[in-house]
Amino acid sequence: MKRDVNVDLGDRSYPIHIGSGNLDSLGTACQDAGLKGRCLIVTDENVAPLYGDRVFQSLEKAGFNPALETLPAGETTKSQAQLLNLYSKAAAHGLDRKCFMVALGGGVIGDLTGFAAASWLRGIRFVQVPTTLLAMVDSSVGGKTGINIPEGKNLVGAFHQPELVLMDLDTLKTLPERELSAGMAEVVKTAIIWDSGLFQTLEKSPANLGNLGGIIARCCEIKAEVVRQDEREGGLRGILNFGHTAAHAIENVAGYGEFLHGEAVAIGMVYAAHLSVAIKGLSDEESARIEKVLARLSLPLGVAGLEWKDIRAAMMVDKKTVGGLPKFVLVDRIGHAEFGCEVPEELLEEVWNGISQ
Ligand code: NAD
Ligand code: GLY
Repeated sequence: MKRDVNVDLGDRSYPIHIGSGNLDSLGTACQDAGLKGRCLIVTDENVAPLYGDRVFQSLEKAGFNPALETLPAGETTKSQAQLLNLYSKAAAHGLDRKCFMVALGGGVIGDLTGFAAASWLRGIRFVQVPTTLLAMVDSSVGGKTGINIPEGKNLVGAFHQPELVLMDLDTLKTLPERELSAGMAEVVKTAIIWDSGLFQTLEKSPANLGNLGGIIARCCEIKAEVVRQDEREGGLRGILNFGHTAAHAIENVAGYGEFLHGEAVAIGMVYAAHLSVAIKGLSDEESARIEKVLARLSLPLGVAGLEWKDIRAAMMVDKKTVGGLPKFVLVDRIGHAEFGCEVPEELLEEVWNGISQ
């Protein structure tokens, strides 16, 4: 399968190349995007031995001068320390304003590298080569970049669009099962907020890898459309955060790395679905369908031992919170979301207590 999806953002538009065996064409895709010269490939210790050489060689063969930096795997790499490390590596490899970075890996590498590119020399170009399902369907598209600080997740970052996104579906063959499920959480999210037909597909065959390429392409189309309409999250783009307010709090309170991001999003979506039943008229039946799809993907539906007072405190420093409790993305039906929903605090607590036993 080979498909291209375009992200239409005027002079910042870019293609998403989706297909099997794409890694070897990264060099020519970068040429086509008008990139030149030196580049810093950033990856992690799991991805480097699998795909580092191929990416390096593809770039070298196309006339680029790459250097490869391999970082520890995992959420804790999205840190100030690793950001500073990348600046040092960029300096050592002589990256000037015409050079670029390549993020080869999951959302951790994509977010960190994107932010390094956004801030190095006040901004150089970069390329996303996502190798996790989560990064393919969500984080590599749309230009959100950033790092975590002890006070909260993604609190420091920038909007910085890539020059291109290139995904090789074959890389998913080496992705651990648990990571695949976590990525499916963002697929389910996309279906819930935008596409009831996609949701029905997931209900029929949530783990049908045979059609995964088509599902990824559909998620990219939806994300591209949302970002086209609202690149900097003035409104509509907020719907992509369905389940994420609670998820970010869960990740923070449980300790980064305890839950995979997609797992926390699954719990957050159950939470948001219950809130939606209470105040948006989502039917109990649709809420149950959401839980059933998540459960079939082996995703968690709740979490024990995280107290409301800690979750509340973490929500208060969510980056979308301005002076008070956050507003929520809720759904009135599967396939249609509303952003900026206010929820009474008593309800937030009551529903949290319901799913945290
Ligand atoms: P990740 O980057 O930590 O990757 C998950 C694990 O899979 C890592 O251990 C990695 O080494 C390994 N891995 C990656 N590709 C592999 C492959 N092909 N084969 C074998 N192993 C492989 O996690 P993730 O789930 O991809 O991304 C999560 C991050 O994305 C979070 O920090 C989250 O905040 C961020 N995110 C950002 C956005 C955005 O819009 N920027 C959207 C959603 C999530
Ligand atoms: N993952 C949320 C967004 O890109 O806006």
